[in-house]
Amino acid sequence: MKEINIAVLPGDGIGPEIVAEAVKVVNAVAAKFDYKVNYNYAKVGAAAIDEFGEPYPESTHQTCMAADAVLFGAIGDPRYDNNPEAKVRPEQGLLAMRKRLGLYANLRPVSTFPSLLERSPLRANLVEGADFICIRELTGGLYFGRPQGRSEDGNTAYDTCVYRREEIERICRLGFEYASKRRGKLTLVDKANVLATSRLWRETAQAMAKDYADVEVEYMFVDNAAMKIIQQPCHFDVIVTENMFGDILTDEASVITGSLGLLPSASVGTETSLFEPIHGSYPQAAGKNIANPIATILSAAMMFEYAFSDADAGAAIRKAVAKSLDCNMVTEDIAPLGVTPCTTSQAGDFIANNI
Ligand code: IPM
Ligand code: MN
Repeated sequence: MKEINIAVLPGDGIGPEIVAEAVKVVNAVAAKFDYKVNYNYAKVGAAAIDEFGEPYPESTHQTCMAADAVLFGAIGDPRYDNNPEAKVRPEQGLLAMRKRLGLYANLRPVSTFPSLLERSPLRANLVEGADFICIRELTGGLYFGRPQGRSEDGNTAYDTCVYRREEIERICRLGFEYASKRRGKLTLVDKANVLATSRLWRETAQAMAKDYADVEVEYMFVDNAAMKIIQQPCHFDVIVTENMFGDILTDEASVITGSLGLLPSASVGTETSLFEPIHGSYPQAAGKNIANPIATILSAAMMFEYAFSDADAGAAIRKAVAKSLDCNMVTEDIAPLGVTPCTTSQAGDFIANNI
């Protein structure tokens, strides 16, 4: 029996509901593959502000540091969204968590599910076979650059985009390594025709390309990439990009699969790795038992694969998810016309029972 420690951070909105389903699935995997799982729950985001007055309390950080992996739901609360006066925002908790755990790489795989080809708003023949991974830099760029703020008169606001060469090198290295293990193609997405940071990204990647003769590197402006992802998703194998571009392009890419509720992610770096769906806290659905738990469940699959090097456990989860899609045991966002959608917990039960 292998003992593993998982920090569970449900967060806000639909976070607690979708994470509960992923925990069911982890329990099913544990029973099948002989794991003893210790869960340590901690608060983050608005939930943590309510209880501790801060979105990423030290106690939550310690829980994450002590764990083998972090399973995380979502952050965000409408109470803060239209309140520019708010001194502390839930999202700061997510950024603090990423920074303090050193999670500089966010891996967001995008691939289509055969049984959902018709659910994509794009033509099935166009999205069929799409299979790429977007590697998003997660601890730099506009999200963290300083100075950030307002002029004294309040009429000017500024954010700063900063990247150091080492930050670019470590994320590009991951990109090259993924590309050489996959189909050998790396697309660096930037805005080098306008931004100084992008020119440093390009220069850095160009210098590194010499060490990866087996990888074909392509450089693409982000506006062009936004179009190409929709127009010809099968073009891509590995995309590497900076924080904000990666944020935007991966929401866009989720359209290919048919729902934002399907895409998982792994964030890796210098401390404990973290696994989370790419979608947000979907406050309109909170407490209604309607949100799609699959992105979080697939994040748990990535957790077994990346944090516990257990490809079989990951495959068992993926197979059960595929079965739920084939049998239409799915939530309303992807249920075909005429099929009664499952609730969040019914979808999770079905997947857990099929492991
Ligand atoms: C994501 C989210 C976050 C981000 C928000 C909630 C701060 O959109 O994980 O993609 O922008 O990184
Ligand atoms: Mn996002």
